[in-house]
Formats: sequence, C-alpha cells, structure tokens
Amino acid sequence: VPDSQAIFYELFEFAPDAIVVVDRDGRITRANAKTEELFGWSREELVDRPVEVLIPARFAAHVGYRSRYLAEPRARPMGAGLELYARRKDGTEVPVDIMLSPVQTERDRLVLAVVRDVTERKIAEARVREALQRERRLKEIHHKEIHHRVKNNLQVISSLLFLQSTYGSDLAAQEMLKESQGRVKSIALIHEKLYRSESVDTIDYAEYVRDLVTDLLRTYSVEQRDIAVHVGVDNVHLGIDTAIPCGLIVNELVSNVLKHAFPAGRKGSVRVELRSAPEERYVLAVRDDGVGLPAGLDWRRAHSLGLKLVADLTKQLGGVLEVESGDGTAFRVTFAEVRYKERE
Ligand SMILES: Nc1ncnc2c1ncn2[C@@H]1O[C@H](COP(=O)(O)OP(=O)(O)O)[C@@H](O)[C@H]1O
Ligand SMILES: [Mg+2]
Repeated sequence: VPDSQAIFYELFEFAPDAIVVVDRDGRITRANAKTEELFGWSREELVDRPVEVLIPARFAAHVGYRSRYLAEPRARPMGAGLELYARRKDGTEVPVDIMLSPVQTERDRLVLAVVRDVTERKIAEARVREALQRERRLKEIHHKEIHHRVKNNLQVISSLLFLQSTYGSDLAAQEMLKESQGRVKSIALIHEKLYRSESVDTIDYAEYVRDLVTDLLRTYSVEQRDIAVHVGVDNVHLGIDTAIPCGLIVNELVSNVLKHAFPAGRKGSVRVELRSAPEERYVLAVRDDGVGLPAGLDWRRAHSLGLKLVADLTKQLGGVLEVESGDGTAFRVTFAEVRYKERE
C-alpha cells in the first residue's frame, strides 16, 4: 500500500467527524467509524442505502437539492445559516453542520459529506443566550427600581413644598411654592410612568398628558363646566430626555390657562394637543379662548419665570416656539425627540 493511501485511509477512518461517501445516485458507498457512532447504523447496513436514511423526513426536499448539487458540484458548507439535523437509526435527531465536497474518480463522481455533531455547541450557545437574557431582565428591573425611588423622593420634595406653602401669610410666596410643587409633581409623574411602563425607557405620552392635566385641574380647583378641557394626543412614546422638558412645558402652559385665561368666572375651553408631524417631529399646542395675553406683553422678553421656562425648555428640546394672541392664546412648540447623549 502506498504511503499516501495509508495516510488518507487513517484520516478518513479516524476523523472526529462522520464522513459519508455518496455516489451519483445518492447511494452511500462508504462511511467511517464515527458515522457508526453518530448514527447508530453499522456500515454494512448503510452501504447501498440512499443517503436520505440519514436525513429527517421533514427535509424531504433534500432529494431535489442532491440532484442539483450533483449537476454542479463544488465544495461548500451545506445549508449555511440553516439549522441542520441528522437522523439516527432510532429516529432521534442530532443538530449537525455538514460540509460537502465533490470527488471525481475514474469511475464515478462522488460526494463526500462531512457531518459534525454540534450538540455541545448548541447547548453552549443556548446557555450564553439565557445568561444574556437574564442579565437584560435584571438590568430592566434595576432601572424600574431606580425610577420608583426617584419618584418617591420627588414626592417627598413635593410634599415639603406643599407643607411650606401652608406656613406664613405671604400670598405671593405661597403661590410660588405651589407652582414649584406643580413642577416637581410633573417630573415625578414621568418617573412613575417609567416605572410602570411596559417598555424599558419610554412612556405613553397620551396617558401622561391626560393624568397631568387632570392633576392640574384638581390643583387649581377648576370646575369642568366652567372650563372645558380637551386633550388630544397621538399615540406617542417618548424617552425621558424628551418627556421631562415637554412635560414641564405642558405644566407651565396649562397652569397659565387655568390661572390667567379665564378671570372672574369667565367660561371657555382649552385644547391640549401633541401631534406627530413629518420628519419625526412633534407639535405640542395649548390653545384657549380666554382673555389673551395682556396688551404689551412681549413673550419673547418675558422675565416672569413661567414663560421664561417655556422658552428655555423649548431651546433644550431644540424646538421652535410660536405664540398667537388675540381671541384667546395659542402656544405651539415644534420639536424632535431628544436623542440620548453621553453625559459628561
Ligand atoms: N393663557 C394665557 N392667557 C392669558 N394670559 C396669559 C396666559 N398665559 C400667560 N399669560 C400672561 O403671561 C404672564 C406671564 O406668565 P408666566 O411667565 O407663566 O408667569 P405667571 O404665571 O407666574 O404670572 C402671566 O402673568 C399672564 O398675564
Ligand atoms: Mg405661569
């Protein structure tokens, strides 16, 4: 026996993978030791059987692939990217990788199929996947927990401001404390929504605006039959970096309507809207049919805290603020979602 033949025989016979040689009719002509171990067939039983005995019945299309492969054979992994399975004699299945190479001999065109059992690799991959999932889940719980605590702390601050507003007789100071309390509450409500949200980092903004407005009506003891409130918010989900400035703007504008637009029992309505606009922009609008801004008030140069906050927060959102005043007042802020930035 020439050297090389002996070497190739050893390589074939003792390879760590099953190697099956198939003729142009798809019949098994040869198989190595590992094949017997992996498939549970003896070689004598396998020889002359169609190679499909090693393939689960649900891959019936294999016969077609086989003839196409034989028409134009080249070395390649089989079903790259697919989950392949081999069938044992007892009918059970094994996950495998398969490498095909054509072999042209003097008598026939053969195909060499190298079949590797990847059970261990699949198990290891599943473990890694599970570990990553568990880690993601834990991180989520941790995030929610933080929002819950921030919300609780903000609620404490809000209560302190409320308590403080009940001391002393300075009405202006009391008013300022009450407004500060409202601002803190509008942020606390965002953390509460984030804590309860299905998603990890966005909240249902329609629900938020509705709750915030309901809260403001209660704070300003507004009777719905005096001031009709309409809230129209598209199905918008915002992340915290957008939700907070936007929530504070809603808080300022709606508070202003309730405080200033309908003096002395005047009746009317206010409409609060947040709409999706083209190019991933949003339009927030608060319109009332009240008395309008005082003549001579230049909202661009306002030094009062509320309007100044609205202008600054709009800038923070990278948005544009437009105001119309005449029969009532209309504020409109056009902005885009704030993308997460690495904090310094
Ligand atoms: N919707 C509105 N209708 C009528 N007047 C308004 C409205 N919003 C704001 N204003 C006027 O603009 C002024 C400035 O508002 P703001 O900066 O929020 O200060 P504050 O609410 O503390 O008075 C208010 O005092 C009020 O005169
Ligand atoms: Mg105000």
